Amino acid sequence: MKIRELLERKTPFYLYDMTVLGKNLGSLKKAADHYGYKVHYAVKSNARLEILRKVKDYGFGVDCVSGGELLQSLKAGYTGSEIVFAGVGKSDDELRLGLKHDIFCFNCESLQELEVLAEIARHESRSARIALRIKPNVDARTHHYITTGLEENKFGIDFTELPEAMRIIESNPELNFQGIHFHIGSQITDLSVFRNLCTKVNQVLEWFRERSIKIEHLNLGGGLGVDYERPDSDEAKYEEFFGIFNDQLNLRAEQIHFELGRVITAHCGSLISKVLYTKSGIHTDFLILDAGMTELIRPALYQAYHKIENWSQSKAQSEYKYDVVGPICESSDYFGKAVRLPESKRGDLIAIRSAGAYGEVMASNYNLRERGEALFIN
Ligand code: LLP
Repeated sequence: MKIRELLERKTPFYLYDMTVLGKNLGSLKKAADHYGYKVHYAVKSNARLEILRKVKDYGFGVDCVSGGELLQSLKAGYTGSEIVFAGVGKSDDELRLGLKHDIFCFNCESLQELEVLAEIARHESRSARIALRIKPNVDARTHHYITTGLEENKFGIDFTELPEAMRIIESNPELNFQGIHFHIGSQITDLSVFRNLCTKVNQVLEWFRERSIKIEHLNLGGGLGVDYERPDSDEAKYEEFFGIFNDQLNLRAEQIHFELGRVITAHCGSLISKVLYTKSGIHTDFLILDAGMTELIRPALYQAYHKIENWSQSKAQSEYKYDVVGPICESSDYFGKAVRLPESKRGDLIAIRSAGAYGEVMASNYNLRERGEALFIN
């Protein structure tokens, strides 16, 4: 698409390149099929219908963490049998919704959730396939806000609670035990942590085998990270990622599932914005954009890096350093500090790259700002 056409649109907006998404899904499919692994797309990373439908075209299921995501997935054409429902705090209504659509699996995260799910299922004369999310206590070596598998994290049950969990399951025939679920965190780039996860999984598998409890499927995560510095040339390491599990897990006939979000959607999306003002400070020059933390909160919340490009000045030779900031009344409202860019002017088109995952879905209306549109190109 020509810059001129983009400049004519009202900014800010999200731009999704569906060819990039398709190519990525194709390589994920190839690698997953190679090992016979199933992938559920983590809707939380991007819940746009167009994206959900494209993911479905490649035969993947979905991983939902709310009733809203479940309904959106149904709207995109997924059937209950393709849906996994995770989340540490599923409401009664959300459990009912999952039961009504006879979803593939509820990933249960506490002893009390098991009891509540059983009671609701009994009341509705339904049964629930469930997996137990167990804390692996493995450090994902990622940002502490997106670490999920440590003892002090709120997710999952402790290994020591397993006997009690199985007692609850066995005494509630509405609960159909299917498997176990582990998740250590997101944006994982040090793949060696997955080896540590496999060691834990093998230990837990042994616990079940000693008791002759059959495991149909193992759901394993963390999320594979992406290279935010290289939005165009980053090839996801699917082969290497799946290969680790293939080498390390001590399996019998268990089916392996993964829930991936970021690595699928991050690079296909950019936040497109315009420079509203340029301003020189004593030590710092600012580019003030019409997009802010309301459109993309990751830099403000996690000090996350996103590559910033000036698409209007792509041929310029000069280089300046700018703090690229948004219009929101918060000092944390920035996209990058001391960013090297060509000399930039009011009205220039600025792209904040690799924003397809946890971008639009985390947008807010703070300062009563309008929600921008999304544009899908092929
Ligand atoms: N499954 C579970 C149980 C999860 O907690 C997550 C992410 C995923 C799957 C998907 O992980 P992924 O493949 O996307 O890494 N807002 C943060 C990310 C939060 C991720 C939380 N859990 C960010 O912008 O970095």
